[in-house]
Amino acid sequence: MLQKPRGTRDFLPDEMERRRMIFTMKSGEGIIEEIYGFEDKGGRRLALRPEVTAAVLRMYVNEGRMLPKPLRWCYFSDCYRYERPQKGRYRQFWQFGVELIGADSAAAEAEVILLADDILRATGVAYHIHVGHLGPMKSLLKDLPEPEQRAVMAFLDKRDVDGLRGCIEGFGREDLLLSLTALMEARSLDEVFAACGDIPERRRIEEIMGILNGQGLRYTLNFGIARGLDYYTGMVFEIFAENLGAENQILGGGAYRLAHLFGGDDVASCGFAIGFDRVMVSLGDIASPPRIRIAVVHTPDAGAYALHVARSFREAGVTAVTNLIDRGIGAQMKHAAKSADFVAVLGGREAESGTVTLKNLASGDQMEFCLEDAIAEVKARGSC
Ligand code: HAM
Repeated sequence: MLQKPRGTRDFLPDEMERRRMIFTMKSGEGIIEEIYGFEDKGGRRLALRPEVTAAVLRMYVNEGRMLPKPLRWCYFSDCYRYERPQKGRYRQFWQFGVELIGADSAAAEAEVILLADDILRATGVAYHIHVGHLGPMKSLLKDLPEPEQRAVMAFLDKRDVDGLRGCIEGFGREDLLLSLTALMEARSLDEVFAACGDIPERRRIEEIMGILNGQGLRYTLNFGIARGLDYYTGMVFEIFAENLGAENQILGGGAYRLAHLFGGDDVASCGFAIGFDRVMVSLGDIASPPRIRIAVVHTPDAGAYALHVARSFREAGVTAVTNLIDRGIGAQMKHAAKSADFVAVLGGREAESGTVTLKNLASGDQMEFCLEDAIAEVKARGSC
């Protein structure tokens, strides 16, 4: 069984939830050229991950096989591809992804597409969805050797008809041109099956689209989608942002089988990954939500109390900064005015009585409160 590299760790959902809570509490082939490969000091050949699906399935085989299926896992992770950088295409980028492991059904595949739609809608990006299936394309190409199939599929994926013609002529299979272009351009399932004939996957394809139609999903049938990664076996889908240029694909996914490559059972899986950086480019300059900031200003004798006050504000979810350099109250106030909404002014008297003299920098109002009331007053002014 393929093991994770020494000294690296996998976190199953329960553990991941605990890790996340600490911060949120209270407050294939095509990819090989793009791989950042290296040898570690022990001579092991490693790579910076170009995507996460393979790692998730390796983790499933290592740690998750006994868990009740289907599993619904998600991740947010950095990935690395040795690509020519441009806007929306980076060598280091982030993917948010979802893998549904252990359900071989139209319901599972449709659920994954609908989830992608729900998530992207929540981000506010304008997008359109293309859904396809590799069955028809593979059935038309079944007599070609695997490398030739891949070459043809790459042209179909790019919708490059001239390239496609040249490619299949080179393989002496001009006879395929008509059905392949008909498949690529098909906009209804009738047109798809007219191009490829009555294939075994027909029922599954009809069922998936039936569920999507039943949920009122707006999408385009695209049986030219081949996907760049080799592990896909059936349904494939891609989502494009409407306001991006060349690098407008913000999501890719589909049904695949990978677990057997890592020594596991041949489990059916499906999922997708969202290119988080592209979503950010598509959304443009969005203002970050306002955060209330308080500067804690103090005399030298109230240093310990200032730290206590700052920590209490932070615990309540308010961003609090303390003075860390040797300067007088006047200089501290001047600095606070540049970056904070409130100032907590603390001297020996406040330290002794456990109070805070709170100044609202917008209104100029100043009042003395006990610490809890000062926190409540600041929090009442806005989301922290
Ligand atoms: P992918 O289409 O290769 O699929 O990548 C998913 C998304 O990552 C792309 O749609 C794109 O938005 C983003 N992306 C890819 N390369 C870059 C880059 N160089 N810079 C910025 N964004 C990029 C996969 O990776 C599959 N693992 C998806 C999947 C999950 N299939 C099943 N489960």
